[in-house]
Amino acid sequence: MSIETLSAPVGTALDRFIARRQEEFPHASGELSQLLRDIALASKIINREINRAGLVGIGGNAGQENVQGEDQQKLDVVADIRFIRALRYGGETCAILSEEVEEPILTDSPDGKYIVAIDPLDGSSNIDVNVSIGTIFSIFRRVTPIGQPLTEEDFLQKGDDQVASGYVLYGSSTMMVYTTGHGVNGFTLAPSLGEYFLSHPDIQMPKQSKYYSINDSFHDELSPNMVNFIKKCRADKMSARYIGSLVGDFHRNMLKGGVYMYPATSKNPNGKLRLMYECSALAFLAEQAGGVATDGEKRIMEVEPKSVHQRVPFFVGSKDIMKDFKL
Ligand code: AHG
Ligand code: MN
Ligand code: MN
Repeated sequence: MSIETLSAPVGTALDRFIARRQEEFPHASGELSQLLRDIALASKIINREINRAGLVGIGGNAGQENVQGEDQQKLDVVADIRFIRALRYGGETCAILSEEVEEPILTDSPDGKYIVAIDPLDGSSNIDVNVSIGTIFSIFRRVTPIGQPLTEEDFLQKGDDQVASGYVLYGSSTMMVYTTGHGVNGFTLAPSLGEYFLSHPDIQMPKQSKYYSINDSFHDELSPNMVNFIKKCRADKMSARYIGSLVGDFHRNMLKGGVYMYPATSKNPNGKLRLMYECSALAFLAEQAGGVATDGEKRIMEVEPKSVHQRVPFFVGSKDIMKDFKL
């Protein structure tokens, strides 16, 4: 699509872009737009915290574990608090599912239309070494009618039920990338203005895959099919790239073409990545950008969650390379 044919040209501020998109849907009430703005605002605050983390002593370990039994970094906690605060008082969100909190969080807006699943800070192990980290979010519509208490049905929704998903990448520049099911658009933060501007309209994964991404330490426990798949990636002269921050690895592969793999391992027999606030969100973006995301058996978007913090094996990439993928 040429830039001229888009309803908003490159350089459009995120707020204006969201408003224009809303005008294209005459029955939209504006609540989703406000929710996306709330997330964008919270991400700017996190961005500020990340940039000064080394100076104000919020780098490093928080000295406790999260619900996954993983070490919590101080910034994990800071990001979690910031996002929960932004969503809790926003009015649009009735519940939040966070990686850092065991149970769903009921907000101060019981009549809110939306449920947000969030990985407030992704790539924690990279915080202290100044490598890209991110935030991942999924937005679902509540199922239970307003006025009635929320149930499991509201919390355990599959990827195909998402209304929107996206991520923020705190990298060499900070970007917010999201979809509402009408393509994927990327916005870059201009730090001096404190505003996101459309920089990557209508992102499509390139046909040709440049990169394959997997933690190489799993190699000896991969299935023969996966070993062959990696052989093929190498034979096709694809380069190996693995940051260990899912958002960063996904973003690079979506822009440049490639495949990301996090299989089941002896340490994590169901895979490590979380369905509800990592994999579904990225699967929605991948499909909207013309890619494929699977757990090895079915589309990630079709996997019915059984618990909020459920893990799944995750394989996501360009359509062409995913044709050859088998578990
Ligand atoms: P989180 O920091 O939210 O717990 O996520 C870390 C994840 C993901 O970002 C990354 O792709 C993966 O862990 C890396 O895991 P390995 O170190 O096992 O490769
Ligand atoms: Mn994560
Ligand atoms: Mn996290």
